[in-house]
Amino acid sequence: MRGIKIAVSGKGGAGKTTLAAALIRAYAETHRRVYAVDADPDASLAPALGLAEEAAKEIRPLVELKDSMRELMGGEGEFFSLTPAVAEVLDDFCYRLGNILFIRMGELKKGATGCYCRENAFLHAVLTALLLDRDEVVVMDMPAGIEHLSRGTARGVDFLLIVTEPNRRSIHTARLVEDLAGDLGVKRVAVVGNKIESSEEITLIEAAFPGKVVGMLPFDRAAYRGQGDFSNDFLNAVVSIKETLGKERVS
Ligand SMILES: Nc1ncnc2c1ncn2[C@@H]1O[C@H](COP(=O)(O)OP(=O)(O)OP(=O)(O)O)[C@@H](O)[C@H]1O
Ligand SMILES: [Mg+2]
Repeated sequence: MRGIKIAVSGKGGAGKTTLAAALIRAYAETHRRVYAVDADPDASLAPALGLAEEAAKEIRPLVELKDSMRELMGGEGEFFSLTPAVAEVLDDFCYRLGNILFIRMGELKKGATGCYCRENAFLHAVLTALLLDRDEVVVMDMPAGIEHLSRGTARGVDFLLIVTEPNRRSIHTARLVEDLAGDLGVKRVAVVGNKIESSEEITLIEAAFPGKVVGMLPFDRAAYRGQGDFSNDFLNAVVSIKETLGKERVS
C-alpha cells in the first residue's frame, strides 16, 4: 500500500490554504514525511504553516526546474516519465520544515501553442514521483475555483477535499468542483465545511452534499490570523477529518 495524496480545492477564500496547512501539521505528527505542495501562484501555504513571509518568498518554484529535469525525465510533453534520479533531485529541491517537505509549484505559463501541456505534464509527473511509501502523505493546496482543476492539476490524487463556507455562493463553487472532479479521475471527493458558527450552517452544508461531508471546521480566531496557529477545537476537527480519510481508503 502506498501513501495518500490529497488536494484541497474550493471557492476563493473558503479556507483551502488554512485546511491544507492544518492537515499537513496533523499528518506530520503521525507520518514519516509530509509533502506540502503549494499549487497556488499566490504562495500562501508556507506562511500558513508558520513560515515568515520573507523566508517563504525565497523558496524557488518547481517550474524553474522543468528544463533542467527534462533530460532526467526522458522526454517531452505527456511523455515525461519518472526515474529514481528525478525523485532524488526533488528531495534535494524541497524546502524542509522538520518532516514536512515543502514544494512550491510556481506559476504555469502558456506554451508556444497556447496550452499548458508541458508544464502540466511536468508537475503531474512530479506529483506522481512524490508518493512512495505508506507513511508518506502529499497535501496539495490548489488555486481557487475550477480553472486549475480543468487543466488537470489534481489528476491522480486519492482525495479531493472541497472546502466550503456555509453560504450559497461558496456551495455553488464547491458543486462545480465536485462535478469536474468526477470527470478527471479523482478517486474520492469529500466536502469540508469551514468557518462554521451554528448548527443551521452545518445543516445547510450537509443538505447540499449528502453523504459527502467529512468534517466541519469552526470559525477560529487563531486560524483567522493565518500564521500557523489553530485552536484545539479546530485541530481536533482536522484530526477527525484525517482519520475519516484513513478509513475511507481503498487502494
Ligand atoms: N476556520 C476559520 N476561522 C476563521 N478564519 C478562517 C478560517 N478558515 C480560514 N479563515 C480565514 O479566511 C481567509 C481565507 O482563508 P484561506 O486563505 O485559507 O482561504 P483560501 O481558500 O486558501 O483562499 P484563496 O482562494 O485566496 O487561496 C483567511 O484570512 C483565513 O485566515
Ligand atoms: Mg489559498
